[in-house]
Amino acid sequence: MSNDGVDNSRRRFLTAATSVVGAVGTVGLAIPFVSSMNPSARAKAAGAPVEVDISKLEAGGLVTVEWRGKPVWVIRRTEENMKDLQGLADRLVDPKSEATQQPTYASNLYRARTDTKDVVVLVGICTHLGCSPKYRPELAPADLGAEWKGGFFCPCHGSKFDLAGRVFKGVPAPTNLVVPPHMYLSKSVILIGEDGGKA
Ligand code: FES
Repeated sequence: MSNDGVDNSRRRFLTAATSVVGAVGTVGLAIPFVSSMNPSARAKAAGAPVEVDISKLEAGGLVTVEWRGKPVWVIRRTEENMKDLQGLADRLVDPKSEATQQPTYASNLYRARTDTKDVVVLVGICTHLGCSPKYRPELAPADLGAEWKGGFFCPCHGSKFDLAGRVFKGVPAPTNLVVPPHMYLSKSVILIGEDGGKA
């Protein structure tokens, strides 16, 4: 993230708003089609993969899309974030992401596909009781302490996750946030919900 916090916030908002408009547009177009489907075709469409354009997603930004009725976050981490993620292992439950919370290609400390490490895709649902954690990318905010390097905070019971969705020790959530199946259709377009069978 640049030093220009206000403008960055606005850009993030605009990026998110653009995505929402895109998603709404897609839903609007899909409704007549969906209503003409038979029940099994409708069920299939509800689980269909979702494309996300990340060409305007700046470092430090997050966009939210809906996939299978769940919020999915796409976050582009800064270079500093990537360095910070390397130094958190002692404080994490599963620092190398070895539990079954991600496809095998995201079973690494960044929880990203190996060719695109700065971008991570996470299901935005707390692994404790299902609240939606808040994106808290700032360093050492007063309420999260001097050691905080950015991540996600769940307001329901205080679970904390880093910027790879890895859960910290000593909080109610037992496991890392889920990485859904995903793949890159191009450098700037991610398909969520489909990975070409590479999981
Ligand atoms: S639901 Fe997130 S900490 Fe309980």
